[in-house]
Amino acid sequence: MKIFLISILMMLVCSLYTANSVAQRVYEKQQPPRKLSDEQTIRAASNYKKYCILCHGENRQGHVNDHAPSLRSKSLFESGVPHSILRPISYGRDGTAMGGYLDEVGGPMTLDEVWDLTYWLFWQSGAERKKLTESAVIGDIVRGEVVYQQNCASCHGKNGEGVNAPALGNQSALAHNKDEFIRYAIEHGRQDTPMVAFSGMLSEQDIDNVTAFIRSKASGWTLTKPVLREIPSPDEYVINPQNSSPNFMLTEDKFVSSKQLYAALKAKNKMVLLDTRVTSVWQRAHIEGAIPFPYYKDLEDKVTALPKDVQIVAYCSCPRAAAVHVIEKLAKLGYTKTAVLYEGIFGWMNMGYPVTRAENVAVESSDEAAH
Ligand code: HEC
Ligand code: HEC
Repeated sequence: MKIFLISILMMLVCSLYTANSVAQRVYEKQQPPRKLSDEQTIRAASNYKKYCILCHGENRQGHVNDHAPSLRSKSLFESGVPHSILRPISYGRDGTAMGGYLDEVGGPMTLDEVWDLTYWLFWQSGAERKKLTESAVIGDIVRGEVVYQQNCASCHGKNGEGVNAPALGNQSALAHNKDEFIRYAIEHGRQDTPMVAFSGMLSEQDIDNVTAFIRSKASGWTLTKPVLREIPSPDEYVINPQNSSPNFMLTEDKFVSSKQLYAALKAKNKMVLLDTRVTSVWQRAHIEGAIPFPYYKDLEDKVTALPKDVQIVAYCSCPRAAAVHVIEKLAKLGYTKTAVLYEGIFGWMNMGYPVTRAENVAVESSDEAAH
């Protein structure tokens, strides 16, 4: 009888344990953020269209260029509003194609516009905000690494560098995102993307372990922003105006290699270099002599100072999407001496070619007054 009771008890404990190990954590609901006025809605939608569709897609579906994530998956907006959305839009993610859009770091939007865009994305997603804790997720980092290498590295990279998925080891992402936000993404996945929900596939404990492992890769918490430099004036557009033009061998009639561009810069050839990324990333680092010429600018007012007889080279970090977009717009206006840097600026940097960098200062938290 006694043995029978013990085994019943054991079975109960076991079934409780397994039920618990696959169950999802329960989160409280959080108040939704403020509603936007009609005017704010219109402005946010038009900012999205102007600045974001190039990579995140017309319908916020993501994965149009590079591996820009979906901006409509419910799990992102349940767990990420406001700061995991607001901060990447404001400051970008260093070393990825996601630049900062806040005017303070050299981007085109005011803080109010960035807040409105954050909330606009939330309302578009139809999500309900969940309450996440600020506390750390505690787990076994050594075990977490094993889980990571087995289940995550194929997409997120052996070292969290991002292969065809976001870079989980990215310092600006780790500085922006709370542990629970990371954990929530792993547990729930991101709807309609390759990121599946791991609840049910991994135990609760292993989800904690892998979260703790990812978190252990954050070596810094301080966000920085560059000291802004002057935007070059039209008389500075052409570099080495007295010298001869480069003689590029283009592939597919449009691409120039980093090697050829570097040789031309060293030979002091006459050229115009266009940095087609959002201007804030030009502020952080650019190829010397490049002028900011962001993909979203109306060309008409910009091009008057751009000569048609000088070799133009455009580059971006996507690695080519924004630059190709700009060159195609220029072609319609009659520019034919154009080329796109094949490897993009990250390829250029990875090959060891030089860039001009900004001085950085720490971002103060008061920069984000509550909205
Ligand atoms: C099949 C490829 C694939 C696998 C395997 C995978 N992921 Fe992902 N993951 C993605 C993609 C793609 C995204 C971006 C989804 C989107 O568009 O929002 C993502 C998003 C995420 C995010 C959210 C990042 C952010 O900034 O919002 C986290 C965290 C994450 N993955 C962690 C993991 C972990 C941990 C594992 C292993 C347990 C894993 N992923 C396995 C492809 C994958
Ligand atoms: C040139 C391509 C590009 C453009 C343009 C761009 N993004 Fe991104 N964005 C990315 C990439 C790539 C990532 C993922 C970076 C990483 O962490 O690996 C990203 C990440 C994000 C994230 C973080 C999402 C998450 O799952 O963690 C948000 C939010 C975001 N972008 C919003 C925007 C908004 C809003 C705009 C327009 C103002 C914009 N982006 C413009 C490429 C772009």
